[in-house]
Parts: sequence; C-alpha cells; structure tokens
Amino acid sequence: MDSLEQLVATAVQDFMAAQDDAAALENAKAKYLGKTGQITELMKGLGKLDPEQRKAQGALINAAKGSIEAALTARRDALADAQMQSRLNAEAIDVTLPGRGRAGGGIHPVMRTWERVEEIFRSIGFDVADGPEIENDWTNFTALNSPENHPARSMQDTFYIDGNDGDGKPLLLRTHTSPMQVRYARSHTPPIKVIAPGRTYRVDSDATHSPMFHQVEGLWIAENISFADLKGVYLNFVKAFFETDDLQVRFRPSYFPFTEPSAEIDIAFGSGPNKGRWLEVSGSGQVHPNVVRNFGLDPEKYIGFAFGSGLERLTMLRYGINDLRLFYEGDLRFLKQFN
Ligand code: FA5
Ligand code: MG
Repeated sequence: MDSLEQLVATAVQDFMAAQDDAAALENAKAKYLGKTGQITELMKGLGKLDPEQRKAQGALINAAKGSIEAALTARRDALADAQMQSRLNAEAIDVTLPGRGRAGGGIHPVMRTWERVEEIFRSIGFDVADGPEIENDWTNFTALNSPENHPARSMQDTFYIDGNDGDGKPLLLRTHTSPMQVRYARSHTPPIKVIAPGRTYRVDSDATHSPMFHQVEGLWIAENISFADLKGVYLNFVKAFFETDDLQVRFRPSYFPFTEPSAEIDIAFGSGPNKGRWLEVSGSGQVHPNVVRNFGLDPEKYIGFAFGSGLERLTMLRYGINDLRLFYEGDLRFLKQFN
C-alpha cells in the first residue's frame, strides 16, 4: 500500500478510536494536521523537490489531507450525535403526560381538631381567647392554688426560662392552658364562657405525651351552675366533635390543686389498633374557692367550672391513632391521609 494511503487509513483508525471525550479527537487531529503533524511535515518537505515532482506530490498530499479532514469532521459529528442521543435518553420527557401542577398544602390533623373545637364551642356561645406561651410563675402555678414548694407542682415537669419576670420570679413555658382562666377571668366580668386553645410544654415524651402539645381550656363562671352543667356541656361537645352519640366517656375522680371536686375525663377508642382502650383526654372540675378569689371574684357568689383537654388526644381518638409522636415526625405519608 502507498504510504499516503497508509497514513490516511491510520488517521481514520485513530479518529474512530476517540470515544466520547472531545480531547481525544483533538489530540488525534494534531497528530496529522497540527503544526508538527505528519501531513504538515510532508507539506514542508515539498520545498526540497523540483517543480514537476512538487506539483504531483503536492496534489497527492492535498488529497490525503482532504480525506483526513473529512474523516475528522465525520467523527466529530458522529460523537456529537451520540452525545445528544444519550442526553435525550437520560432526560426523556413524556410530553403526552398531563401537567403536574403545584401540590396543595394541607392542614395538620391537630390543627383540624383545634378548628373544630373552636367551631363547636362558638356555636354554643363561648368566646375564644388566646394568651402567652411564656408565663410567669404566679399565673401558671401560684394563682391556681399551687404555691411555691407545693408538691402538686411536680405533677407538671416544667421548662424554665433564663431570667425572670422583673420581680425575681421565674419565667416558664406554660405547662397547661389553665393560666388563661386567671388572665381571662381577671379581665372580664361574669357570666363568663370561654375556651382558650393553645400550645403547652412539659418535660414529657412517650406514645401519649410530647414535650410540646396542645390543650384547650374551658371556663364557665356564673351564679347558678352545677357539676351537671359542666358534664352536659362536655358530653355535648364530644358528641359533636366525634360526630356520634355512640361514645364511651367517663368522669373519673381525681385531684387538681385548682379544682374541687376534680375529675379526669377518659374516652375509649372506637377504632384503630387500640379499639376499646381508655385514653385520658381532659382534666376538669369546679374551680377552687381560692382560685375564684384570685380571679378577683367572690366565691360565695360565683361558681366556676373548668376543663383542660389535650388536642392531640382528641385527634388520636378521632382517627384511631395509637402514637402521638406521629403528629410531629413530619412524615408526609402520614399527614396526607388527613387531607
Ligand atoms: C391539666 O393540665 C389541668 N390544667 C387540666 C384542668 C383544667 C383540670 C381545668 C381542671 C380544670 P393534665 O396534666 O391531666 O391536667 O393534662 C390535661 C390533658 O392534657 C391530659 O388529659 C392530656 O389529654 C393532655 N396532656 C397532658 N400532658 C400531655 C403531653 N405531654 N402530651 C400530650 N398531651 C398531654
Ligand atoms: Mg391528667
């Protein structure tokens, strides 16, 4: 084989060997067409030949150069096509699919409960109040008949805040919504019918307790009401909330420093893995005379009834959920079930 033909054949082989890497092809090109490339060298050598030979040889070299350039361009195009094809495959878009749109947000199941509770109590004439989550010691404990060092304080393991209220008394994350009884009663005149839903905090964590949770406080102050009225209001509320009369509810005698008598309210699961099991949802009772006095009211004249219910617990019962930590894991597969 003629050496020029040989050169063209080797160049074509080199180009074919260059794969998807553009640099490999450019190196191969330099080997033949670069400043010191083989074709370029042959061109330089033409000067030494006599005119007749130079003309003939020059034509041959030019033809070889043309072939090499054509092979290079073809390879370049082939590599670019292959690259485009693999990109198209990787980024395949099915243009026949309908648009996805933006996913809609949803309401958290505990917030849904909060909204339902407000709606139900508003419908029977209760006001809805809101208050601070950082409380002072007096409103959270002392005014509620739990003086400093009273053992009942240890019923609620508390998060204290650095600093104090200005009178040297500690500040804390409220352990219940009951301080709202004090705030509301001291700034309104009876008869009073109010609920106060909100966030509360305790050093607690298990399947039925979380460190941040929600309560709704209820307070009813009037001159002639009895425990039967509290019971009637609460039973009506749970029937409306659970949308059924077929509920197992019990008032279990209990103790709170701020009520006397006191009861805890338990409801049995109607569905889910805990079906039939009792779950405590609320504390309740007749407001203690000392507390009525701290409201600035005469306990001989006014009777108060109060309850403080857990919104997570009500939500668990409504949907048959056995572990309240699911509410706070942020797992969309869980949360989407409620929307
Ligand atoms: C109280 O907090 C009283 N303040 C309730 C009360 C109000 C009694 C008015 C009398 C008059 P207790 O600690 O039992 O009580 O909490 C009330 C409810 O809050 C519980 O029944 C439960 O439903 C909920 N709860 C309490 N701790 C947690 C927690 N760590 N996580 C989730 N829910 C909780
Ligand atoms: Mg309790």
